[in-house]
Amino acid sequence: MSTANQEIPMTIVGVGPGDPDMLTLKGQHTIANADLVVGFKTVLNVIEKWVSTGELCPMSYRDQEDVLDYARSEVAKGRSCVVCAWGDLNVSAKELIDRVRRRATTVTLVPGVSSIQFACSRSGIYMEESLFITLHKRADTGSDLEELLHHLNEGLRNIILLPRPFDLMPSLIAQNLIQAGVAPNRTIMVHQRLSLEGEQSWEGTLQDCADSSEEYSDLSIMVFKKD
Ligand SMILES: C[S@@+](CC[C@H](N)C(=O)[O-])C[C@H]1O[C@@H](n2cnc3c(N)ncnc32)[C@H](O)[C@@H]1O
Repeated sequence: MSTANQEIPMTIVGVGPGDPDMLTLKGQHTIANADLVVGFKTVLNVIEKWVSTGELCPMSYRDQEDVLDYARSEVAKGRSCVVCAWGDLNVSAKELIDRVRRRATTVTLVPGVSSIQFACSRSGIYMEESLFITLHKRADTGSDLEELLHHLNEGLRNIILLPRPFDLMPSLIAQNLIQAGVAPNRTIMVHQRLSLEGEQSWEGTLQDCADSSEEYSDLSIMVFKKD
């Protein structure tokens, strides 16, 4: 039974972009020593090999509140809990972090390697010359698309863009940008499944992307290099 002023500590670990060997040593130790290891099923698949005796608590978008409530109740009984997040914690993971913060009294963050770092490496660009925009969220993305357009027209920075599975993917984004006046011959890159089997990188024009009927992986990142 938890009391009103009881400490509920929880840890969140960023597990990297998919390759289990991209989990940090700190992340491995934290996961190996936890009594409960919580995360979306795809995330747990990445770190399963580092779990020793901990109880795996897979969650889905539907039952995530219930699974996190269960984890909280177990922490109140004295067990330790790690919640695993894809990639790095500071990159498009705010909704999950907020859910954990609502339940825990203290949250320890163990950063990981982000897919956007991989996208930088594969594109040959630098973070300090780049801007990151995510459409991967429940909230309205109208202002993000306006911002994207603004910075594309300005041309001062590379733009790293996370599409939204599966209704706002690269082809539709490219179509919208052309409609909004961006030059169809502008070059873009699309990286899929970075660090994983089947990884691929494509470079072409916005028009090629708009015309493509390819089914993009939900693990896709678009990169617009600065002029
Ligand atoms: C909710 S965001 C989480 C990002 C994560 N926190 C990170 O640092 O990589 C998920 C999105 O990140 C991108 N992503 C994550 N892993 C990827 C990978 N291995 N290859 C390509 N894109 C990836 C995709 O756009 C995916 O829809």
